Amino acid sequence: MKLLAPITIGDQTLKNRMVMAPMTRSRADSHGVVTPLTTLYYQQRASAGLIISEGLNISSQAIGLPFTPGIYTPEQIAGWKKVTTAVHEADGRIFAQLWHTGRAAHSANKNGELPVAPSAIAIAQQQVYTTGGWSSFETPEELSHAAIQQVIRDYRQATIHALEAGFDGVELHGAFGYLPNQFLSAGANNRTDEYGGSIENRSRFTLEVMMQLTDIAGPGKAGIKLSPSILYHGIADSDPVALYSYLLRELDKMPLAYIHLMQPMFPIDEFDRYPKDVTAAFGHLIHHPLIINAGYTRDTAEQILQEGKAQLVSFGALFLANPDLPERFRLNTALNEPDRERMYSGGDEKGYTDYPFLEN
Ligand SMILES: Cc1cc2nc3c(=O)[nH]c(=O)nc-3n(C[C@H](O)[C@H](O)[C@H](O)COP(=O)(O)O)c2cc1C
Repeated sequence: MKLLAPITIGDQTLKNRMVMAPMTRSRADSHGVVTPLTTLYYQQRASAGLIISEGLNISSQAIGLPFTPGIYTPEQIAGWKKVTTAVHEADGRIFAQLWHTGRAAHSANKNGELPVAPSAIAIAQQQVYTTGGWSSFETPEELSHAAIQQVIRDYRQATIHALEAGFDGVELHGAFGYLPNQFLSAGANNRTDEYGGSIENRSRFTLEVMMQLTDIAGPGKAGIKLSPSILYHGIADSDPVALYSYLLRELDKMPLAYIHLMQPMFPIDEFDRYPKDVTAAFGHLIHHPLIINAGYTRDTAEQILQEGKAQLVSFGALFLANPDLPERFRLNTALNEPDRERMYSGGDEKGYTDYPFLEN
């Protein structure tokens, strides 16, 4: 199986092409520090060719949801060091996903501080989970030009911290309506300075952040996750193909480890302008390894690799529920079902580290 064949990204050889997709599990302590259970959770999944960590808040400003871990305090870095050590001891590789939620956040989850965003436009028709229950999104505070420069420096510092914590590389969370996606989306960004307006201007933030990540991490150690056809968190654009074509052409010039693209995931039949297959729309623009994601199974993943449309496939829910997913794919055996009630919370091992391995 091609899925189980090694591949080299940058100067690192991965033992297979199965990537564990980044998954927020909301199990850090109230200071954003991960616990020994998190170390065990990732170590259990070290047979993935590459693990991408859950989103790590790059600063306190970046926080959107309760109990999500950070990478900006010494205690947080020390917690992640234990995780990366355990993954490496199990012969795995792990990248850190760097996260800033922007307007997809709530002040109740961040000590009363209002969320920040490219523009003061709230997410409509969706709710956000807070420690006090579900709530409407607030109108975020517009980032000043100087504040944008500070966020870019925070991403740079987070990359330094991630490497200090022993991660093998970093991934920018540029998908699913979080901060970089908000800058890209005309519906969330009505700025009139060089970070808003034209496609080039709306892409500037993401490109400047990626320049920092590649500068610090070095060639082949920084990737980016994008979701060109996902309208979640109020994301909307009049010409997503032109936008992502420009962005991907520019990203392709950088010394990246990979580009990680999500397929639409939600029904988009009524939105003709959004590509239904992102590999068909954008694959020709990408010369780095392409990780494809969302909804793949053993067979559809193997097929897309065989067709040469992607080089790796990431699996979210399947890795969450099956710590030994590569071995299960090799044997073509039964899979555990994910416990959806416990995806984002729990506090103990249930639905986290208690998914059974295959019995020998
Ligand atoms: C519990 C859960 C948490 C997630 N958290 C993140 C996250 O922190 N960062 C991210 O980029 N995607 C996140 N995702 C999306 C996954 O990375 C992936 O894109 C999605 O699950 C689709 O892949 P799948 O069909 O293989 O599950 C999350 C998904 C799940 C199920």
